[in-house]
Amino acid sequence: MGETAGRTHAPGLPSLSGNDLRVAPSILSADFGRLAEEIDTVAGVTDWLHVDVMDAHFVPNLTIGPVVVASIRRRTGMFLDCHLMMTDPGEYLEAFRNAGADSCSVHVEVGETEALCAEMRQLGIGVGLVVNPETPYEAAAPYLHLVDLLLIMTVHPGFAGQKFMADSIPKLTEARAQAEREELKVTLQVDGGIDELTAPIAAIAGARCFVAGSAVFHDPDPAGAVRRIHSAASGSSSAGR
Ligand code: DX5
Ligand code: ZN
Repeated sequence: MGETAGRTHAPGLPSLSGNDLRVAPSILSADFGRLAEEIDTVAGVTDWLHVDVMDAHFVPNLTIGPVVVASIRRRTGMFLDCHLMMTDPGEYLEAFRNAGADSCSVHVEVGETEALCAEMRQLGIGVGLVVNPETPYEAAAPYLHLVDLLLIMTVHPGFAGQKFMADSIPKLTEARAQAEREELKVTLQVDGGIDELTAPIAAIAGARCFVAGSAVFHDPDPAGAVRRIHSAASGSSSAGR
């Protein structure tokens, strides 16, 4: 993708229908000293990129902000899915939109969910909501009709390289059932410990977007890793339906 500027996809969240899946490599596990090259290695095999924003308050870690998102935007047309692990995401939504974010996902644990969703909608970006492992599904259920993307965390947020928590999977089942019942078009995403062994577990329960950090960028062949996760998840999602 090299010098591509701006977006190469339609505005809004790409709608994933039927068994259409996406792997979203998380740049948190990339080498930030050669971030552009790392992004280029996966740009040919997926059109989503997951950007982990951590504020050293909502989570203990501190990562990147709108300045880096703007640099990534200049480098690639991929869909930039920004996961905001922040106590006050509302303060930064417009800055992320202006930097070129395509969607932002806020944690339900920070509250003011309805207002934050309305603001993201008004800004014209994809509306995402995130649920931590210790948070029950019921906390997110009232907002499902407001969102494009529901992210079920399968690790405690803050760091890459943790072990997949299968305890979170029933939340996907609940979200899928609610979405079907209420005829909602929401993409279910999982994040944390996803690789070719765990992606199928989430796919069977309804996940359609698979965030993977270490499994992609710590593999000597990141593009191959994306393909393997995609194909493992595809096999299971069709078998499970
Ligand atoms: C964790 C982040 C994840 C992380 C995933 O707080 O939200 O996106 O990068 O990394 P892996 O795939 O290594 O668990
Ligand atoms: Zn994330």
